Amino acid sequence: MMDSASLNTEFGLAKHLRFEAQDGNILALIDIPGAAQAVVSLFGAQVLFWRPAHSLQPVLWASSLASYAPTKAIRGGIPVCWPWFGAHPVEPGLPAHGVARIRAWRVIASGLDNDVVMLKFGLNLDQDPLIPQPVGCEVTLRIGATLSIDVRTHNRGQSEFVFTEALHSYFSISNIEAISVDGLDTRQYLDQLNATAGLHTQAGSIRFSGETDRIYLRAEDRCVINDPSWGRRLRIAKHGSQSTVVWNPWIDKAAAMGDFPNDDWPYMVCVESGNCLTDRITLQACQSHVTGIRIDVETLAPSPPP
Ligand code: BG6
Repeated sequence: MMDSASLNTEFGLAKHLRFEAQDGNILALIDIPGAAQAVVSLFGAQVLFWRPAHSLQPVLWASSLASYAPTKAIRGGIPVCWPWFGAHPVEPGLPAHGVARIRAWRVIASGLDNDVVMLKFGLNLDQDPLIPQPVGCEVTLRIGATLSIDVRTHNRGQSEFVFTEALHSYFSISNIEAISVDGLDTRQYLDQLNATAGLHTQAGSIRFSGETDRIYLRAEDRCVINDPSWGRRLRIAKHGSQSTVVWNPWIDKAAAMGDFPNDDWPYMVCVESGNCLTDRITLQACQSHVTGIRIDVETLAPSPPP
């Protein structure tokens, strides 16, 4: 991995993008006055923080107990789960959610255009013991008043490459019991808390009253997190993504995670865009696939007094 001084020389953008070493990792610090601020970890190519200038509250949730050391996945922000989501389909002993979130990525390009910072990362997988096939992965971030992330998978080999993935987005919310998620009405989902029960069908908005861990299939629509207490809607548009995962660990699972503050579960929800389970992607030789999200914050007009 390049050191922060070399990264600043090659990819830094005056006052808008600089790299700083922290705990053996390198963070990209982005500041676009009047548009947004963001922090991105090179370990995982993971957005940790993003706040558009007009938003009073942060958009992404990140654990205050997370370490930035490049030793384990960082809890919070937008981890990239790739090239498998959840447990490995054949070897359950391999790291959950794939290798992308536990590898140091290379910065391969940066730029500034119209108050948007672009940062592009590549993953060198040629020597990776967990990725036996010749395959490439690139992550492109566009950070401004909206945040977009594209994950491009390219099969450089001659045999087909099958993968699953997700942009495991942790959103910051006022309270899990006060929000709702729209965009999944009528879609079928697997309840990961009772996976043998088969598929269920979503009716209307999702509301939360307990641990929730669902994979919605063939769900290509934009999702919206309605958060009236904070007067905003988080809109998550996506492309190249068939699946949406919705997760909140609730009390016991939060307490069981060493890197998750016990009392923080009401203040986060994951709405993850990807291709999971039967929505997996098959790439023939030389084919590529791009999965992307675009997040923006809609501020709601205050409701008139009764
Ligand atoms: C979600 C899964 O995407 O990630 C959950 O649906 C899982 O089952 C959660 O518990 C967190 O995973 P991890 O590996 O980051 O602890």
